[in-house]
Amino acid sequence: MQVKDKVVVVTGGADGIGAALCRRFAKDGARHVAVVDRNGEGAAAVAKEIGGSAWTVDVSDSAAVAAMIAGVEAAQGRIDLLCCNAGVGDGDADRNNAASSPDAVWARAWGVNVMQHVYAARAALPGMIARGEGYILNTVSAAGLLSQIGSAVYSTTKHAAVGFAESLAITHGDQGIKVSILCPQGVDTAMLRAGGDNQPQNLDGVLTPDQCADAVVAGLAEEKFLILPHPVVLSYMQRKTADYDRWLGGMRRLRAKVLGG
Ligand SMILES: NC(=O)c1ccc[n+]([C@@H]2O[C@H](COP(=O)([O-])OP(=O)(O)OC[C@H]3O[C@@H](n4cnc5c(N)ncnc54)[C@H](O)[C@@H]3O)[C@@H](O)[C@H]2O)c1
Repeated sequence: MQVKDKVVVVTGGADGIGAALCRRFAKDGARHVAVVDRNGEGAAAVAKEIGGSAWTVDVSDSAAVAAMIAGVEAAQGRIDLLCCNAGVGDGDADRNNAASSPDAVWARAWGVNVMQHVYAARAALPGMIARGEGYILNTVSAAGLLSQIGSAVYSTTKHAAVGFAESLAITHGDQGIKVSILCPQGVDTAMLRAGGDNQPQNLDGVLTPDQCADAVVAGLAEEKFLILPHPVVLSYMQRKTADYDRWLGGMRRLRAKVLGG
């Protein structure tokens, strides 16, 4: 897909990777970019800059997501590209205990990192299927393919997001629906900075949000399911699937190195 003349929705568009996507899509000639975020002021600022519309939405709220999708469709006639990009990246309450985070933290991560994708697809698919075309890009993370040391909450919910995207692609591919998952390692955003700079995903280099957007545009053009701004992630996936136990051993060693034992 080329975004020129397309109607695009980007959640988490007020900041970080989402804001970079909004700016890049506008620059590449999108017909309209809807900037969606719970941070209404941030969304409005990005929308004003690019001539798009701003939507203040908590994406973990099913009804609010459905209303936003219906509102964009009513105003623009259709949604060509739906980018579910908003995410939360809480570390575990005790990084030496994978089950330590409180239920509320798990619930928030499920709501944003997984159920957002379900709610948005549920609302957008009928229009896309009726037109026989549509593109869904879900921002996941390399953590959804590999793991995130120090955050079972993030790893688990991002793995679930991969599973849902696979189901979307398998179930709706023959109806003209394209699906991609964006799975970067470190990208220099507020989320990464909040996690500190000793994160394992930083070992392969931190990209700027604009570099991440470049990878998205290239991946959308190729209509590839897997968009990997850090291409090395593919070799890590191959090692994981080739010998799971050996990969787990390697991850334990990496964990000891990163977290200091
Ligand atoms: N930064 C990284 O290193 C990195 C790496 C891999 C994947 N990701 C993923 O990229 C996506 C974007 O993250 P980012 O790094 O740009 O972070 P960010 O914190 O800069 O931006 C996230 C945006 O999502 C919004 N948001 C969060 N919860 C929301 C909710 N409930 N409703 C609506 N909006 C909400 C925030 O307000 C913010 O504007 C996330 O899904 C994240 O998991 C980030």
